[in-house]
Amino acid sequence: MSDPREQLRRYLEQRRELGEREFVLDQLSVEEALRIVGAKPEAPPQVSTDSGASDVRREESAAPDDWRAALRAAGAAPAAKKSGRGSAPTGIPASTPEVGGQLAPPGIVVGTTSRDLFGSGGPSIDSLDSLAKAIATCTRCPLYSTAKNPVPGEGNPDADFMLVGEAPGATEDETGRPFVGQAGQLLEKILVAIDFARADVFIVNVLKHRPPGNRNPRPEEVSACSPYLVRQIELIRPKVIVALGTFAAQTLLETKLSIGKLRGQIHRYYGVPLIVTYHPAALLRNPAWKRPTWEDVQLARRILDRAVSGA
Ligand code: URA
Ligand code: URA
Repeated sequence: MSDPREQLRRYLEQRRELGEREFVLDQLSVEEALRIVGAKPEAPPQVSTDSGASDVRREESAAPDDWRAALRAAGAAPAAKKSGRGSAPTGIPASTPEVGGQLAPPGIVVGTTSRDLFGSGGPSIDSLDSLAKAIATCTRCPLYSTAKNPVPGEGNPDADFMLVGEAPGATEDETGRPFVGQAGQLLEKILVAIDFARADVFIVNVLKHRPPGNRNPRPEEVSACSPYLVRQIELIRPKVIVALGTFAAQTLLETKLSIGKLRGQIHRYYGVPLIVTYHPAALLRNPAWKRPTWEDVQLARRILDRAVSGA
């Protein structure tokens, strides 16, 4: 068995090649990583010193620089070894699937350009606020009668990055806000890992009212509700859409293909690149999906970075 430090160094190098900046989605916790390299579980060295906060630094949510400093102090800083595959420190990692200069192969194309989203006869609601008001008084399907609150979605109206979930759960129904329960907390960690605060992005669901007991959305509910989603996408005009879970993916891409088949491709939704990944609630049940999810959100982030930089 090789030296654990060497193992960890190799592991970190691999992760860096994948473009990762922070462990959020792996099964190795920061504490475990630190234990492997023999770091003390106390507050890591070289952190800004307001003493008494050491407990906080032991949490997984400790600032990335803290545990990086600890890893360095423990002698685990990755050696500057060339992989020979030309991965630049901050560039597109060599392990990213590249097809014809693209980050990932093209997938399903729904619609052509965003101008076609509505055509004529679509809802004429021209702001997200008006849309939220329309959702709040919507009776197009029966879910409004059992839900406590509408959950129209929220975030930065100018967001480049938009995430689409399935439907509100109990906590969302109570609060009127999307992804605020357990799955929402994981989603926030995922966002932080790709350098987003929750307020940077826009988060919505396919359904705006909670299905009773979290049962699956019904087709007639989806068709009743989807004009709102479509209008949200048109008003926000994101540069990247991430479909969270089977339901959002299959709805937006008008397909019955499984997540396993839909991941790893750059689909187009009326011209907007759309990436499919696992639903955070599914990750809570099946941690083995964290790694692929990590790759998916990194891909989405790189697509956005390229779009923004005009590359
Ligand atoms: N949080 C996680 O979920 N995974 C890690 O590897 C580290 C922090
Ligand atoms: N799951 C979803 O799909 N959406 C939410 O808002 C919360 C949980």
